[in-house]
Amino acid sequence: MSGLAKRIVALPSLSATEALAAGIAAMARAGDCILLEGPLGAGKTAFARAFLRAAADDPALEVPSPSFTLVQSYETKIGLVFHYDLWRLDGSASLTELDWEDALDAIVLVEWPDRLGNLRPETALTIQFETGDGDVREAALTGWDGRLPASFSSWPGLSGPPIPAPAATGGPDNTPDKPGQGPDGGAAAA
Ligand SMILES: Nc1ncnc2c1ncn2[C@@H]1O[C@H](COP(=O)(O)OP(=O)(O)OP(=O)(O)O)[C@@H](O)[C@H]1O
Ligand SMILES: [Mg+2]
Repeated sequence: MSGLAKRIVALPSLSATEALAAGIAAMARAGDCILLEGPLGAGKTAFARAFLRAAADDPALEVPSPSFTLVQSYETKIGLVFHYDLWRLDGSASLTELDWEDALDAIVLVEWPDRLGNLRPETALTIQFETGDGDVREAALTGWDGRLPASFSSWPGLSGPPIPAPAATGGPDNTPDKPGQGPDGGAAAA
């Protein structure tokens, strides 16, 4: 887990996040796990949605946030993809009820992967999203050494030089209930 290179990608707009997701989807294969970290509204679901739309080759694919179902699976052109949002997970033991074992044989996207505890796959690609002003986001990618390019600036939709890595920041600490901000069309009735 230690000593892995960290790659920083500037995401000045939603379309840049979508471009990064499409590029990662083009590389993904069965057995891959992609952990999406970052605060509320950082763009984890936006990334997952673009990933799934690219994987399915369907720009109109409906990808609701799985905040309430905790997991949603999709049959795509690159195989089965499981999309988890573990914010509400009640202990990692409940993961067995959420097809976690099957998911690991497929492609897995996980929002709030800190909930995985010691079930966190060591070979995963971790993408840590940070928010900036307005639509500005930044992604720090760790893992998949030897698979990822040194720079993403040549990827379609991602241009400009990489931004130097900032000092590492901690993940979310204590997480009470997720605010009732409806996840894209979600019915978060308070
Ligand atoms: N550069 C960007 N990348 C990603 N999303 C962006 C960007 N700029 C603006 N947005 C907007 O930010 C919001 C991100 O919401 P999203 O649901 O993806 O966050 P999240 O990290 O999944 O939050 P949560 O922890 O609540 O699940 C969306 O409304 C999206 O359109
Ligand atoms: Mg989300």
